[in-house]
Amino acid sequence: MLRCLSLTLLFPVLAVLLGVSSAEIIDLTSQEFYEMATTGQVDLMIDVRTQAEWNTGHIENATLMDALALQLAQNLRTAEDVLRNFSLWECRFCRVVVYCRSGARASNALQLLELAGFEGPLYNGQGVSQWTAAGYELVTTPSVEDRYCMVPNMETAVLRQSSSRSVCRAMAIYEQHQREVDAARNLFLAQMQSHNATGYSYLLHVYGNFPPVGYPWLVTVELQEMMMGMKDPNTTAPMAMIVDPWYGIKGDTVLAAEATGDLPTPNASTDILAEMEDGNNMGWLTVYSILDLFDKIQDGIDRLADDIQVVYNLEWGYPEDISIDYDQQIADEEFYATASNFTLVDMEWYTMEIHYEHNNDIDATDTMGTSFFAADIQSDLNDNKAQWEGLGLTEYFFEYTWIEGGGLLMEFPWSVHVRDEVVVEVTNAAGQDITITDQTGALRTMVNLFDAVQDGLDRNAYMVDVKFDGTYGYPSDVWIDYDSQRADEELSVTVSYFSTEGLP
Ligand SMILES: *[C@@H]1O[C@H](CO)[C@@H](O)[C@H](O)[C@H]1NC(C)=O
Ligand SMILES: *[C@@H]1O[C@H](CO)[C@@H](O)[C@H](O)[C@H]1NC(C)=O
Ligand SMILES: *[C@@H]1O[C@H](CO)[C@@H](O)[C@H](O)[C@H]1NC(C)=O
Ligand SMILES: *[C@@H]1O[C@H](CO)[C@@H](O)[C@H](O)[C@H]1NC(C)=O
Ligand SMILES: *[C@@H]1O[C@H](CO)[C@@H](O)[C@H](O)[C@H]1NC(C)=O
Ligand SMILES: *[C@@H]1O[C@H](CO)[C@@H](O)[C@H](O)[C@H]1NC(C)=O
Repeated sequence: MLRCLSLTLLFPVLAVLLGVSSAEIIDLTSQEFYEMATTGQVDLMIDVRTQAEWNTGHIENATLMDALALQLAQNLRTAEDVLRNFSLWECRFCRVVVYCRSGARASNALQLLELAGFEGPLYNGQGVSQWTAAGYELVTTPSVEDRYCMVPNMETAVLRQSSSRSVCRAMAIYEQHQREVDAARNLFLAQMQSHNATGYSYLLHVYGNFPPVGYPWLVTVELQEMMMGMKDPNTTAPMAMIVDPWYGIKGDTVLAAEATGDLPTPNASTDILAEMEDGNNMGWLTVYSILDLFDKIQDGIDRLADDIQVVYNLEWGYPEDISIDYDQQIADEEFYATASNFTLVDMEWYTMEIHYEHNNDIDATDTMGTSFFAADIQSDLNDNKAQWEGLGLTEYFFEYTWIEGGGLLMEFPWSVHVRDEVVVEVTNAAGQDITITDQTGALRTMVNLFDAVQDGLDRNAYMVDVKFDGTYGYPSDVWIDYDSQRADEELSVTVSYFSTEGLP
């Protein structure tokens, strides 16, 4: 008791002398100890009782170090030697639990380990008294000597780069990165959700193993809605129904990237449409969305990159500064990026602008450069409708697919014969006649198609994407997403055949 007291008084002085920062010492209940030990969260379990006490039974997987505390107390200035003597030097970064009979000796030993340079977290597992009182068994197996933290070769990949790191420490670092990136991604998604965000823009600066290419880029990103598939449990067919609004974020897609710096390529001095299918790769550079940046960090963790450093924005969660060195032995394979000037963008307006393609003119760069707002779509719809009506067709044949909501299984395309705006005959893809009076609600004429586009505009749909036939003016391809936050309410119409002569 007296010795303990004097040691306690010495601690602050020694701590200053040794210049060590204090590790956290956490008291565990026996239940918590058991939980941690049996779920692989303990790297090293030290029993600091005497050999005689040990012989009467100990906790499974423990290592007996009866002389550890005394040796440390007597040789704190050469603590490294003591730790090496106990094969503990490599375990300084491990999750260590110390226990004794009732917890008092464990507490002393932990404070000494802390002073000796253990970084923690350090756990006091109390004693075998509490352990057995809680109903757990003791065993009489030999002391564990081949401990995880002492066997660097076990995880050569982890230690490939830096032999100074213990396996436990390396693992702890990756775990820490994992926790941080998970928390940051969740914060980011939660922020997007709570702001009902439809998109955002930010300045992306990527630098590393390639020549500077005009970064930073002003990147505009659209958030994708969460799709909620609904199945009829009886038939497993998709149910055509409008589900409750679902405010979820599935992902984000880079819509546009605009260089803000000097560009080395004279070609690239204009805006670049970044609506790319192959992972945003624009050939000579890559534009990342914020979720892509999270994936990049995750990739660094998964590949056990030698060095990962990330600063996350505390309010929004996005990574402000990323530095990943995959292999310290190899040059020019690092990834560095910064994200700044983050701003929410109202995509309801933005996509209306860039998704519209008129008169079959699918030159996306043209539409990028010009503003097409709802009024422009309306005016184009009017022009095309006038074109269609001007032809005064009394009879026509066409094939179409009309999918509303989650998708009706109606064996599209349907082949329709229309005379004087009245459907006189219709067959489905299987060649079966459909009764004209059938109240399926899926029977359409070209006038219905024009009305559907008009309806989308009247309802201020989130996205109206329509192509008109150049010759006849009818809407040949229609995609209307009425509400960006709501899945399975979109309208998709495709006209796959049209003739005034007859069906194919
Ligand atoms: C001891 O280690 C074995 C093997 O890892 C594990 O299954 C068991 O749960 C551990 N027991 C305790 C009490 O830590
Ligand atoms: C380390 O152990 C050796 C022998 O096992 C002993 O002679 C020496 O004093 C110990 N050193 C320390 C610092 O405890
Ligand atoms: C987001 O949408 C929900 C549901 O419409 C609404 O209750 C909430 O006030 C909106 N939040 C913001 C920040 O606009
Ligand atoms: C599935 O079948 C059961 C029993 O016939 C019926 O009660 C249920 O309403 C059906 N579910 C759906 C979604 O149609
Ligand atoms: C512009 O880009 C095209 C295609 O990548 C290339 O063939 C051409 O040489 C470039 N022009 C200039 C001036 O760099
Ligand atoms: C980015 O933000 C900084 C600080 O708010 C501002 O000074 C700078 O002009 C912004 N840059 C751009 C390109 O918006």
